[in-house]
Amino acid sequence: MPLQMVRSDITTMKVDAVVNAAGESLLGGGGVAGAIHRAAGPELLSECRALGGCKTGQAKLTKGYRLPAKFVIHTVGPIWRGGSHGERELLASAYRSSLDLALVHQCESIAFPLISSGVYGYPKDQALKVAVDTIGDFLMAHDMTVYLVVFDRAAYTIGGKLFADIAAYIDDRYVDAHSDSRETQRRRMALASMPMEEEEWAPAAAVPFGLDEALSKLDESFSQMLLRKIDERGMTDAQCYKKANIDRKLFSKIRSDIHYKPSKPTAMAFAVALELPLEEAREMLEKAGFAFSHASKFDLIVEYFIAHRNYNIFEINEALFAFDQSLLGGGM
Ligand code: APR
Repeated sequence: MPLQMVRSDITTMKVDAVVNAAGESLLGGGGVAGAIHRAAGPELLSECRALGGCKTGQAKLTKGYRLPAKFVIHTVGPIWRGGSHGERELLASAYRSSLDLALVHQCESIAFPLISSGVYGYPKDQALKVAVDTIGDFLMAHDMTVYLVVFDRAAYTIGGKLFADIAAYIDDRYVDAHSDSRETQRRRMALASMPMEEEEWAPAAAVPFGLDEALSKLDESFSQMLLRKIDERGMTDAQCYKKANIDRKLFSKIRSDIHYKPSKPTAMAFAVALELPLEEAREMLEKAGFAFSHASKFDLIVEYFIAHRNYNIFEINEALFAFDQSLLGGGM
């Protein structure tokens, strides 16, 4: 998955580069810098001394020493001074400079902490939004696996109103599901969890074209449907898999295997990338043997975004992450 959010300790990440949220002197510090220097050993500080510091918004690279990562990219985020002192641009620049440096050193994977969101006081929800937006933009033009490592569980949540709206959406529909007759509930659950045979599909009435066309599409596999819809929308393959947060290798596999069975998060990610309305998204999931279930928070959150025609996969993942759900997208 090109962008993944994880709860972890960055010093344990097995990636080509970990990013250090450093101060301008680059000489150690507390927080994530302290943890990285302790784990890497004293040679890291010696190499940092020779670098002569680093300006806010820029980045410099050293070896990783005893870390599992090959490199440490030291970047300096802004100190939060209320938000009207160019903090957002400087923070975005810290992410971009680090990613550019990773490219130059041919890194295929990189892990970021939430820069500036500790000692430097940047509000965590806003720091996360800048991180996700900036990394998201970068990934539209480059192939890399980027981890955003969130350390402290309790302190973090997405913006208040969005969180409340999604929570209300889940609440309403969850209630629906639980007030269904037991038989309907049983069917919903079965639909959500079991791959379906092709004969069990929704009736042709749900399909918005003529009978001949509908019948000819019954034999279409998930992968064929995906490729057809990409063409119909005039997208390139790369535009589609990037918008889906799917890595290139996984996409090639799906493209070359017409019987490929994607996971539910992968199938949903493509429905989002193609900006399908809810009905068509349902149809696409059915091709992969899945359905949206109102007994699953994960499904309801994705449904919320599709119903609101917000197809930004990174924002959807931010919300899924805040509700402790798995994320959309996929990789090999
Ligand atoms: N792994 C991942 N994230 C971590 C870890 C860790 N081991 N330790 C701390 N964090 C998180 C914090 O919870 C915070 O959300 O990293 C984020 C960044 O916090 P800081 O390390 O305080 O970085 P920052 O706010 O950018 O301040 C930088 O602090 O240590 C000094 O020298 C450094 O002056 C610089 C300043």
